[in-house]
Amino acid sequence: MKNIIILTGSGISAESGLKTFRSEDGLWLNHRVEDVCTVEAFEKNPVYVNSFYNELRPIMMQASPNMGHQSITTLQEKLPDININVVTQNVDLLHEKAGNKNIYHIHGRIDECVCTNCGHVIKTLGDVESDEICPQCQVSGMLKPNIVFFGEMPKYMNEVDKMLLNCDMFIAIGTSGIVYPAAGFVRMAKYAGAKTYLFNLDPCNNSNMFDQEILGKASQTFPKFAEHLIAELSK
Ligand code: OAD
Repeated sequence: MKNIIILTGSGISAESGLKTFRSEDGLWLNHRVEDVCTVEAFEKNPVYVNSFYNELRPIMMQASPNMGHQSITTLQEKLPDININVVTQNVDLLHEKAGNKNIYHIHGRIDECVCTNCGHVIKTLGDVESDEICPQCQVSGMLKPNIVFFGEMPKYMNEVDKMLLNCDMFIAIGTSGIVYPAAGFVRMAKYAGAKTYLFNLDPCNNSNMFDQEILGKASQTFPKFAEHLIAELSK
């Protein structure tokens, strides 16, 4: 065993008090994706889109990681000879706060904004205002949260493709398997010969691609699995 990929979605952060997207009280039930998370929405109404993420930012920044995130750090520390990469769809920073290494935010990060005119990325802990001036190109009104909207290309796809080709174990945690390209990663990992595991509250959209589906709260199910894996691979 050389390479493990851990793909996470909003379910891993649910027990840290953050909303998932498609559950009963999920973010996409109170807001239409088309209004807040598409390139067209941002072009039409940047003030509204920015205000949605401005509300979300302090909530995400204040959240603390749970045992699901922390067990990934334990895995990485106890299995130093294995490459364990964390590919996350989450824009929160709970993997970082838990001390995880090798994190790829394929849908961007809530603590950054990007100038849609020149591509300059700016750390931002406060609100992003639509009339702000980009410090690099000096153009105003072009800053958007550095979050991948529908209609944009997810980040780190070359790196993730390479990882998937050499993947021995693929673990998905807390994701519905609805949004591509992330939903297709398990299939690629399986073609590469990886064992595939899903840790989710409910079966996901592509459950049939997983060798094992462990249902329950990730903060409870994943730490147990991590403990067994460490014991198994340390023999
Ligand atoms: P979803 O809301 O689609 O799915 C969350 C998944 O987490 C569900 O399948 C739940 O069963 C599971 N879940 C909930 N609580 C859990 C818990 N405590 N332990 C384990 N599993 C739990 O969210 P995502 O799959 O993350 O993209 O959504 C993918 C993308 O769709 C997001 O990154 C976002 C959204 O549009 C962007 O914003 C670009």
